[in-house]
Amino acid sequence: MGALIVIDAEAARQTHLNLKDLMDVKKRQNTMTQDQLKQKVAEAALDYVKGYSILGIGTGSTTRLFIDGLAERRKDIEGAVSSSLATTEQLKKLGIPVLELNDVGTLDVYVDGADEINPQKQLIKGGGAALTREKIIAAASKKFICIADDSKCVDVLGKFPLPVEVIPMARSFVAREMVKLGGQPVWRENCVTDNGGQILDVWNLSILNPLEMEQVINNIPGVITVGIFAMRPADVVLVGGEKGVRTIV
Ligand code: 5RP
Repeated sequence: MGALIVIDAEAARQTHLNLKDLMDVKKRQNTMTQDQLKQKVAEAALDYVKGYSILGIGTGSTTRLFIDGLAERRKDIEGAVSSSLATTEQLKKLGIPVLELNDVGTLDVYVDGADEINPQKQLIKGGGAALTREKIIAAASKKFICIADDSKCVDVLGKFPLPVEVIPMARSFVAREMVKLGGQPVWRENCVTDNGGQILDVWNLSILNPLEMEQVINNIPGVITVGIFAMRPADVVLVGGEKGVRTIV
């Protein structure tokens, strides 16, 4: 027969509290951090690029992890087309040759992260201010593989403030046009893009029709690139979550 344990009310309360604390700690231990999820998805993407010797490569923390993994296979890689000075620097440090898009023509595959992803694989990008070169390389690639942790998945794009790269002299004009579209533009001060542009982050746009919104903003004089990737969405999205990596095709 089991021993009868008698505890007073205070001890019971204390025991309950301690158990709750323990459960919270356990829960935290079981929850992967966003960085761990990014690592997982970056590793998964390596399988998707096997057999390709020239790759297009995006910008951001998820892509950085992907490039780290790629370095281990650098013998199989002829080179990469880079979407930013930051990515170029990392590639060079790891001994991966950086190639000019003008020299390689159409790319087989492009790997990049995103700030938001909807179920149609349309994206918001540009949190890292590299949207223009990212959009060019995505457009010049046969397959665009987007890698992200599951916090980036949304039903409707627009919660993440939409980055718009502008010619500096057009910044205020474009900002007023954004207000007309219902957004609240905020100048990302102290940010000069690799192309010498400036960034407006546009809050509170509910982007119900990404294709149309991309074209409308693209047509505003002074806009270099809008961070909606709908005309050229991702082909495959790899999403890192608690239960593993999910593939959206
Ligand atoms: C850079 C980008 C990035 O892909 C985007 O900001 C996601 O970055 P991260 O992987 O750090 O979350 O569009 O311009």
